[in-house]
Amino acid sequence: MDEKSKVLALASDHGGYWMKDFIVHKLKEAGYEVKDFGTYSGESVDYPDFIHPLANAINKGEYEKGIIMCGSGNGAQMTANKYPNVRAGLCWNVEQARLIRMHNNANVLSLPGRFVNFTEAWNMVEAFLQTPFEGGRHSSRVDKISQLLK
Ligand code: RB5
Repeated sequence: MDEKSKVLALASDHGGYWMKDFIVHKLKEAGYEVKDFGTYSGESVDYPDFIHPLANAINKGEYEKGIIMCGSGNGAQMTANKYPNVRAGLCWNVEQARLIRMHNNANVLSLPGRFVNFTEAWNMVEAFLQTPFEGGRHSSRVDKISQLLK
């Protein structure tokens, strides 16, 4: 299935709100369909209130890929990674965004809204969406993330 025929899930707190707004706009312009889980303004909110619904939906297979943001990208990533079928990677440059796909088969990209500019963020989004998982030796490693959980 072509990436653009799938719906991408996005969510942020206030720390990532303006970046999410920009990325939603760019994704739609590029032909992607988007499900925006909020937040919908720059007013102060708690990131788990918005990241949990997105991560739960990805965990259940309702969306294949998600993009999440908060001020540092860490709270969002930590929340999303509570779900066994979610692999969220925090990225701050394009090489990181490629690597979370190639080596970790990440299905969620977490961005630090207060630490990278919009152009850098968009470049990471493109890398995340366009880079395939390499498979091979990385498959068993990714499988072990859940298999070895005690
Ligand atoms: C909100 O001020 C900030 O703490 C939040 O966006 C995020 O960085 C948490 O990890």
